[in-house]
Amino acid sequence: MTNTLFQKDIISISDLSRQELELIVSRAQSIKQQPQPNLLAGKVVASCFFEASTRTRLSFETAVQRLGGSVIGFADGANTSLGQKGETLADSVSVISSYSDAFFMRHPKEGAARLASEYSKVPVINGGDGSNQHPTQTLLDLFTIFETQGTLDGLKLAFVGDLKYGRTVHSLAQAMAHFDCQFYFVAPEALTMPDYILRELSERSVNFTLVDDLDSIVSELDILYVTRVQRERFDETEYQYLKSKYVITNDTLKDAKANLKVLHPLPRVDEIDVEVDATPHAYYFQQAENGVYARQALLSLVLREELEL
Ligand code: CP
Repeated sequence: MTNTLFQKDIISISDLSRQELELIVSRAQSIKQQPQPNLLAGKVVASCFFEASTRTRLSFETAVQRLGGSVIGFADGANTSLGQKGETLADSVSVISSYSDAFFMRHPKEGAARLASEYSKVPVINGGDGSNQHPTQTLLDLFTIFETQGTLDGLKLAFVGDLKYGRTVHSLAQAMAHFDCQFYFVAPEALTMPDYILRELSERSVNFTLVDDLDSIVSELDILYVTRVQRERFDETEYQYLKSKYVITNDTLKDAKANLKVLHPLPRVDEIDVEVDATPHAYYFQQAENGVYARQALLSLVLREELEL
């Protein structure tokens, strides 16, 4: 079987087929069970963050180092020639990519990773661009769903919170559309899933429902995927209203099935009460750990053509 991910840019989750998604999930599972310390020996990977991150950057850099590769880059684009001297993103990418074997980036503007891929000499992996896409988050989400449910098909998933600006839910809904699942989108009207995503899901014959009352569906769910309302996008009164609309507590989960897992890309503010952390439903910290394995799986496939598939 050919490794179709070799040297591929990973900009949007839509760039990946169902077969590629399943391959990455399966490799993440193998690497979690049996570490692969030398797969990236001799490879240099650039890690360039023009926007803040804790999990994505550190799990990505951990992934490279645990595979035997090395990392160059920066955590704060403000301290670069782009941030201080007016260098363009195109020029920065052109130069940095000549120092590295792959270019991993986060940027606050939608489309920045796609633009970077036009100037990069090496594969570009998008670590989040504005409110658009976060494909590697989706890979770890898929791995976590598979790990906890034993399948990616036949599941009932609710997406809760900021579905309008939350790039993780956009990418995850598009990826899970490859599988035979039922989606519930639970959000206040101001934060509902963008029309372009709903249109795409309709065109792909995905079964989805917009829901106002989370309590009415919790007992059916396998996955409850919660996201943070982004304070910076609203005035304070509106933010206080929106953030208090859906807060997950032990009471929310009282009728949940035993296999229900609560996931969250993190960081959380207060949309999941800390009392939930001690329940068997909480899986968001294991999900964050899975970011290392999913990113190891992706990197090894992008940088090693000859991998046994
Ligand atoms: N989930 C996620 O993208 O977290 P960070 O913003 O901390 O990278």
